[in-house]
Amino acid sequence: MSAAGSRPAVPTAPEGWTPNAGPDPVLRAQHGLIGAQVSRLDGPLKVRGEARFAAEHLIDGMVYAALRYSTIARGHITLLDTSAAEAAAGVVLVMTHRNAPRMQPPPLFLTAPKAAGGSDLPVMQDDSIHWNGEPVAVVLAETQEQADHAASLIEVAYESSPPRTFQDARAHARTPASLVGQPVAVAIGDAEAALHDAPHSVDLIYRTPRHNHNAIEPHAVTLVWDGDDLIVHDASQGVTLHAWTLAQVFGIDEDRVHLTSHYVGGGFGGKTVWSHHLLGAAASRLAGRAVRVTLSREGVYRLVGGRTNTEQRVAIGTTDDGRFTALIHTGISAMTAHNALAEQFTFPARHMYATETLKTDQQVVDMDMLSNSFMRAPGESVGTFALESAIDELAVELDLDPIELRIRNDPDKDPSSGLPFSARHLVEAWRTGAARFGWERRTAPGTRREGEWLIGMGCASATYPYHRFPGGAARIRLDKTGHATVEVPANDMGMGTATTQTIVTAERLGLPLERVTVAHGDSSFPGSMLAGGSGQTASIIGAVIAAQRALVEQLLAIAGEESALAGLTADEVGGRDEGLCELADPSRWESYAQILRRAGRDELTVAASAADPAETQSRSMHSTGAVFCEVRVNTVTGEARVDRALGSYDCGRIINPKTAASQFRGGIIMGIGLALMEETEFDERTGRIMNPSLAEYHVPVHMDVPRIEVMWTDIPDPYAPAGARGIGEIGITGVAAAIANAVYNATGRRVRDLPITLDKLL
Ligand code: MOS
Repeated sequence: MSAAGSRPAVPTAPEGWTPNAGPDPVLRAQHGLIGAQVSRLDGPLKVRGEARFAAEHLIDGMVYAALRYSTIARGHITLLDTSAAEAAAGVVLVMTHRNAPRMQPPPLFLTAPKAAGGSDLPVMQDDSIHWNGEPVAVVLAETQEQADHAASLIEVAYESSPPRTFQDARAHARTPASLVGQPVAVAIGDAEAALHDAPHSVDLIYRTPRHNHNAIEPHAVTLVWDGDDLIVHDASQGVTLHAWTLAQVFGIDEDRVHLTSHYVGGGFGGKTVWSHHLLGAAASRLAGRAVRVTLSREGVYRLVGGRTNTEQRVAIGTTDDGRFTALIHTGISAMTAHNALAEQFTFPARHMYATETLKTDQQVVDMDMLSNSFMRAPGESVGTFALESAIDELAVELDLDPIELRIRNDPDKDPSSGLPFSARHLVEAWRTGAARFGWERRTAPGTRREGEWLIGMGCASATYPYHRFPGGAARIRLDKTGHATVEVPANDMGMGTATTQTIVTAERLGLPLERVTVAHGDSSFPGSMLAGGSGQTASIIGAVIAAQRALVEQLLAIAGEESALAGLTADEVGGRDEGLCELADPSRWESYAQILRRAGRDELTVAASAADPAETQSRSMHSTGAVFCEVRVNTVTGEARVDRALGSYDCGRIINPKTAASQFRGGIIMGIGLALMEETEFDERTGRIMNPSLAEYHVPVHMDVPRIEVMWTDIPDPYAPAGARGIGEIGITGVAAAIANAVYNATGRRVRDLPITLDKLL
């Protein structure tokens, strides 16, 4: 180990970050681990098949579940004959509303601190049907094949009434209670009057369809009861939230639910609590057997809510030189009375442009459908399609370059709240992105042709808010060899959470990467974490900061008079070279191992809760970006192809460029799907999803995905822990508009209804 005076291998980094007290000191480390390219630490486990996912856990005596789904949207069951299923080979139990145990309705995600339900409808408690696809029976059998076969033998008949259509329901549109906790409407000045008086304006309607979740890992859960304790191996985005929700549904103490979710094959907002969890646990209790529920791809469409459809109005009025005098973004989306997500598509307009007057508002219509839910950048993904298409249409109207138009209206403070931004470098992202992409080579609409193909360029802004969730906590165990294990109930859905947090923790504690283990995905760990809202990274860092502070205080308390650190306070020391040193005089240093050894301790364990996210009270905190793409449209077939794409982002400090680039690229690929192919075919007459498979619901495949470049400003946000605002969702935002705008530049045709399929271009 290095001694007094030598150059630290890992730079000195004190803890001591508190919200609103200036930049996280760990950022002073200029050549440390933050910003280094680190491969996923769980990569080898996954390649070797040793990373165990929810449907890969084996429990002695386990049986397999199959579900039978309703084929009507609204009504009730008149006949349910399970006798043939009960007599079928291998069948252990057939559960219906007639024998299902009583369960409380699941508490709805985002309506309470301990809630993760995708819908608050009771599950299989009576003969009524609320959506087409609602489970009416669960079969448990010794093999999956036996269960599937027996489920097919169940005879069901219904009395049904027609479901409400979007157009019918429109007459009863209502204002939702909130938009994910924010007020529904914002009004600054009289935007309609200003629009009317503006010398230049656009006033347009855009539509986006329903979308369904297609994570690579279909939803699954393996569980067993041990007396009144419920042991669950789950695929989850909120480990403790899931455990607490299950406890409430079954009326047991929350510490009796032991839930793990170590590896998750993609979540995207879909991996909250849905009926398969509750039915699996209920059937397990009835049968007295361990149960595995693995949803088929169709099952995910029937049981797991997706993104709802929207109809959006964007109207903008400007002065002669293109300065906004009015910005209006309003619209309507489909919803149910049993969820709390109106799809906040009007959020981007609240923060993105300086404008004299502003109006945003949303309404919903209640439909007889599975509760719609969260899907990557709910709101912003489809909201930026409308807003950023309208900006492009306005640029045409003004005969102004669309980037120049955006830069001209870039705000110097938050236009709706009036708060200063914590950091905003979107103009820099535009300039560097445009130079790298070669934006200056763009030609007039319809003028660039290669054989049958018309080629064009488009761009759009990306945006997503910063979140750090309350309730975060972390436990650090430091052993006598100087190895630190951090325990957080966090979720790694494949994005590299454990790797990123290993980097941040190692840098903060002054340890090399191999001396830090980040343990996650276990409901017995303290606090609560959500892999959602692009907020998990900041939330974990906030918790680790608090735990490290507690650890340092304890280390100093046990260091004793012989220590080089004797008499120093926690404010005066920082982590360095596998120990602590005095910040003012780094030669005063002692290793973690030596402090523990002298004190006769094998290990030291501390836990602490993160400071409340006060930073968002004093600052408007948002990530932004500039998305560019080049498309070609075939003049014979109408097919549109993305030739290349570039995203230039301002998300604060990028902790691990390798996993970050994957996150951005994955978001952009999902944006290509949103723009060109994804669409849930929802038959309004029956309320049934007609394309519940990857054969009929199209997502981008390799042939659809071009070379994607990503770049970032890497300017730390002084108000975010480690300077990082989060990157999970911004990648999908702006992409659909950039593609639609490029299609316009290629063809002169404007498509305002997603997806941009060939029939709309012929
Ligand atoms: Mo995201 S839709 O918050 O998983």
